[in-house]
Amino acid sequence: MSICVLGIFVADLCFFADNIPTKGQTILGNKHIIGPGGKGSNQAIAAARIGGEVSFISKVGKDNYANLAFSLYDEAGINYEGVEVDTKISTGAAGILINENTGDNAINVVPGAAGTIDNSLIDKFLPIIQKSKIFLTQLETPKEATLYALKKAKEIGCITILNPAPASSIPEEYFQHIDFFTPNETEASFYLNKNIENENDCKDAGTDFLNKGIKNILITLGEKGCYFKNHEEEFVIPASSLNKPVIDTTGAGDAFNGAFSVALSQNKSYKESIEFASLVAGVSVTREGAANSMPFKKELEENLL
Ligand code: ATP
Ligand code: RIB
Repeated sequence: MSICVLGIFVADLCFFADNIPTKGQTILGNKHIIGPGGKGSNQAIAAARIGGEVSFISKVGKDNYANLAFSLYDEAGINYEGVEVDTKISTGAAGILINENTGDNAINVVPGAAGTIDNSLIDKFLPIIQKSKIFLTQLETPKEATLYALKKAKEIGCITILNPAPASSIPEEYFQHIDFFTPNETEASFYLNKNIENENDCKDAGTDFLNKGIKNILITLGEKGCYFKNHEEEFVIPASSLNKPVIDTTGAGDAFNGAFSVALSQNKSYKESIEFASLVAGVSVTREGAANSMPFKKELEENLL
């Protein structure tokens, strides 16, 4: 059963150094790479590489960055009939500063053509959403169109997943349309206006999110794993233990959301789905880049990690 992802593709301009510079500081870096990024596109690639049947809805420019996206979608087997090419606006880009010692990052993303996605584009590609079991989106696309698509997807009967990144306010009435809400700890703190750092904070937060109308809450906690709660169960799944060092956490959340959707589309239990998502996200942090760090099904099956 298929997964429809609405989101952005951008080119990630990644700068690796011993530190992330602070305001006003210039540092000498060690390496720079340009690779595929954008949360939605990363999630689509993560899901397709591990065997998900994936369609992607977005907008790009008519340029080399878009060609990079299309060649990756061809390789991963993603249906990109829902990606409109805008001849007037370029594909977006993200500036990413990475601390090589910890894998931490700081990101400034400019969505470019994808920043003009509107409700009419959602209506145009509604048949793609209609054919999908799962609808997965984030908050990098314009909010009006994103929330419109989320509501439509729920009305159609899709399982909806909102990865609320980057965090941005959502009208309360939209929470009822979200089956799975997947913030990281910073994003969860934003929505509840309180600090969420550990398991105990998550327990209170879980209840607060359910009271808002969300059906299942997953708070990703980086190397501490993932907290889950719905009206029937509550648990923490630890991060997977890695056999390689963490070098770049960019796209960890995307690997997690993409893999979680695939497991869910295969009717795995919530616990199994989160374990699988943690495994895939764990692999991604041991590799450079965002979409480029997503493992393939063959690598997972043959333990080639
Ligand atoms: P990003 O914004 O960098 O894409 P995120 O902040 O949205 O990521 P995180 O909570 O940092 O998401 O990580 C998502 C998941 O990735 C975690 O729940 C965990 O399973 C895995 N993960 C992240 N960092 C590590 C790590 N250092 N070791 C093992 N697994 C990790
Ligand atoms: O989640 C990581 C992604 O966020 C990067 O690829 C960057 O493009 C930003 O969208």
